[in-house]
Amino acid sequence: MLRSSLGRKLMMSLTGLFLILFLVVHLVGNLQLLAGDGGMSFNRYSHFMSNSLLIQTVSKLNFTFILLHVLYSIWLTRTNAAARPVGYAGKAAQAQSAWNSRNMGILGTLVLVFLIVHLKGFWYQLKFESPAYTTLPLPGGGSEVVVNAYEVVRVAYSEAWYVGVYLLGLLAVSIHLHHGFRSAFQTLGLGYSSYSQTIRSVGVAFAWIVPALFALIPVMMYFGLSF
Ligand code: HEM
Repeated sequence: MLRSSLGRKLMMSLTGLFLILFLVVHLVGNLQLLAGDGGMSFNRYSHFMSNSLLIQTVSKLNFTFILLHVLYSIWLTRTNAAARPVGYAGKAAQAQSAWNSRNMGILGTLVLVFLIVHLKGFWYQLKFESPAYTTLPLPGGGSEVVVNAYEVVRVAYSEAWYVGVYLLGLLAVSIHLHHGFRSAFQTLGLGYSSYSQTIRSVGVAFAWIVPALFALIPVMMYFGLSF
């Protein structure tokens, strides 16, 4: 099943939908960077995430799904190129599908480059270099030394070029999600149903609102603003 064209599309849709779910959780966590409390909420959240067995297991799943999504996209693009439809109707479908796969390929690659820059800048530093520490007050009194994840992000977003890279990366994420949602819904058989218009609108809104909220973080931190 997973080797057939439909199976591969299904795999792309399901891994993509999981990654979308991750994005929502990631956004909610990261918005704490804007709490205006010198990073206390964010550091508490980050410390909890990196010490929870459940979260660490989900994280491994997350990386596996990113890898599968990328590998299946390459596999699908290569086999699609080898099996283009022919004839008049085929030509229209061919133009549409060529546009989709070419642009999704380019955008997907941009998102991947952004992700590599992002993981190197934050995830890798926090996981393997632990560049800064701070103390957190404990509810019952006393304090605990934790990695100062807030400081790593604050230093990164004090550079205009780095903020620019994020804005471009997030624009690529938006366009990629906009088309990705449509393809996923079609693969899952939701493309033409009576409620498809609503589902499509939710998809489009998600594709632009979630990256826009992410974009608020580097921009507001650059200007030293908070909620
Ligand atoms: C302004 C926006 C963002 C900020 C401030 C941010 C911040 C962070 C931080 C601090 C980490 C390290 C967490 C840790 O290991 O303790 C991280 C990990 C990660 N980020 Fe982001 N992120 C942003 C946007 C994004 C976007 C748009 C994506 C996807 C396209 C993304 C994907 C990831 C992934 C996959 C990880 C690794 C998570 C894991 O360990 O499972 N991030 N991010």
